[in-house]
Amino acid sequence: MSSLSRSGVFSGDMDQSLAKFSESISFDHRLYRHDIRGSIAHARMLAQQGILTQDEFAQIEAELIRIQGLIDRKELPFKIELEDIHMHIEQALIDALGDVGRKLHTARSRNDQIATDLRLWVREGLDTVDRLLEELQRAYLSRCEQDAGVILPAYTHMQRAQPVLAAHYWLAYIEKLNRDRLRVADCRRRVNICPLGGAAVAGTSMPIDRHLTAELLGFESVAANSIDISSDRDFAVESVFVLSMIATHLSGWAEEWILWSTTEFGFIKLPQAFCTGSSIMPQKVNPDTLELTRGKSARVIGSLQTLLVLLKGLPLAYNRDLQEDKPPLFDAFDTVIACLELAVPIVRGSVLQVESISKRLDQGYLDATALMEAIMMQGVPQRTAHHKVGALVAIAKEQNKTLSQLSDDDFRKVDSGFDGAILRKSLGVHGAVASYRSYGSSGPDFVTDQIASWKKKLQVESD
Ligand code: ARG
Repeated sequence: MSSLSRSGVFSGDMDQSLAKFSESISFDHRLYRHDIRGSIAHARMLAQQGILTQDEFAQIEAELIRIQGLIDRKELPFKIELEDIHMHIEQALIDALGDVGRKLHTARSRNDQIATDLRLWVREGLDTVDRLLEELQRAYLSRCEQDAGVILPAYTHMQRAQPVLAAHYWLAYIEKLNRDRLRVADCRRRVNICPLGGAAVAGTSMPIDRHLTAELLGFESVAANSIDISSDRDFAVESVFVLSMIATHLSGWAEEWILWSTTEFGFIKLPQAFCTGSSIMPQKVNPDTLELTRGKSARVIGSLQTLLVLLKGLPLAYNRDLQEDKPPLFDAFDTVIACLELAVPIVRGSVLQVESISKRLDQGYLDATALMEAIMMQGVPQRTAHHKVGALVAIAKEQNKTLSQLSDDDFRKVDSGFDGAILRKSLGVHGAVASYRSYGSSGPDFVTDQIASWKKKLQVESD
């Protein structure tokens, strides 16, 4: 069968090896609904402009809807000779309608057609991602109440640093996810621009109305330069960057909870439905979902690299290289959506091991900074207080004690003016947490305010 793109200039069929090499139907078939939606809008516009009759439009629309049903039911066979999804649908239309079907491709090229399909697909994908990000934010928010009052050690350099409320940790993730959502929204604005009618590269002499097509497809505006339209895949790169950032956030979280779920940490119990066992060690409950979330981020970041390298050497305008944009684009969306879908029940269903956490909160001198600040409040310069508390920690370490277990003499040894009875009041993780008062800190009042403000933003009922 000769393909729709082989005009009279060719005297024979394409070599079979090229057909196999150049086909994209094996992966772009998933654009069929978007392709048909674009074609119906295009045909409606052609009829509005008097380029097609209303009757021709009605036939084309009805037939395209029928073809969509065939593909839904997997009844339209895909053949590599027909290259891509655009050709399959157009050929099926021509098979059914003859010359009327042959008119659909008026004032359109596959170059603006694929750009349109992809933008519609990416727009839908971004909306799904945003919905899941919001669900994950809600999952963290519900944990804030579940874990109210629980204190965790915060780490810097992976060393115990200062005590914080567990809710403060969850709010940190809500912030990160919120930046992800802002990036999705911003990227969506540049995705939501209509390329259709740019034709191959120079536009067309046919009297089309591109604004009407854009409106019919829910695009916010019309792309202004036909050469740019034919070549532009910035929206694909940008959306995969946004996905890479999300995957990076998820990967960091996964790493943290993998560590927290170890016997060594003993901070969290993951829901067993999302863990696997070992074929040889019967005691094992492995955090595979989290490990795979961390691992799959590599694929998403790899897709970003693939797209950038794909584009970096391309002159204007459409080049067939662009066909290779789809596998990394699709894979990045599929992967991030799957990771987010699993993150939601894991965040909701994991249980903090409060007893095991609190038993060890007096390890690691988490209250040293609070002690230093209490001393500074008495007028001692920060550098001096820092040095003296360091000396107290050294004494405590030597005696294998916590700071609050130091004697009055120990305090005096470091500074004759230190009053153990007074300084002890600022020690212990509860005192330290209660003392935080700066905006953005883990102070209980501030954390409560943040929870309330996120409840409002995410429209979660307050109890
Ligand atoms: N399958 C092609 C792609 O994904 C569609 C556009 C083909 N255009 C062309 N002039 N051969 O890029």
